[in-house]
Amino acid sequence: MGLLNIVLLAVLFTCGFAKVVNITPCDETNEEVCKVSEVRITPCTQTNKCLFRKGSDAAISFDFTPNFSTSKLKTMVYWANGAVDLPFMGFGTNDACTYTSCPAQPGQAQTLNYNLHISKKLPKGTYNLKWKVWDEDNETGHLCCFKTTIGLA
Ligand SMILES: *[C@@H]1O[C@H](CO)[C@@H](O)[C@H](O)[C@H]1NC(C)=O
Ligand SMILES: *[C@@H]1O[C@H](CO)[C@@H](O)[C@H](O)[C@H]1NC(C)=O
Repeated sequence: MGLLNIVLLAVLFTCGFAKVVNITPCDETNEEVCKVSEVRITPCTQTNKCLFRKGSDAAISFDFTPNFSTSKLKTMVYWANGAVDLPFMGFGTNDACTYTSCPAQPGQAQTLNYNLHISKKLPKGTYNLKWKVWDEDNETGHLCCFKTTIGLA
């Protein structure tokens, strides 16, 4: 195998199955506070609804630009299907600095990378996933948030 083929294979394996997915903004915040510019999910084939198999892992990465500064960035994922947001089962530490660079600076774009494990115990169906990243010192005023639709099969 030639060097070029090896390089092409490496590119395929690292980003070949990532999909930029559709997102909707959350009511709790706005683009002046924090702009989420792109959300990528691997594996995913549909931009409007990524389909995950239960018991599998999904890599999610997104770019966001906070309009605030903090060294204490927190994060959490929720199911947003009803009146209340249910925290995502099995989410790791909510210290966002584990998955993205800290401190956050106003106007400076940064990327958060997370590997989400889809529990076998979750019921099949379509869900709204809500992702939040916030300043621990100002949870309501300094908030990044987006929603995306996923399906569990
Ligand atoms: C950042 O926030 C300030 C004040 O809240 C606002 O005037 C400005 O337009 C915001 N910047 C962006 C890029 O939204
Ligand atoms: C939280 O952030 C908002 C928006 O920037 C600001 O108006 C408010 O004063 C902040 N609150 C605290 C406790 O810092």
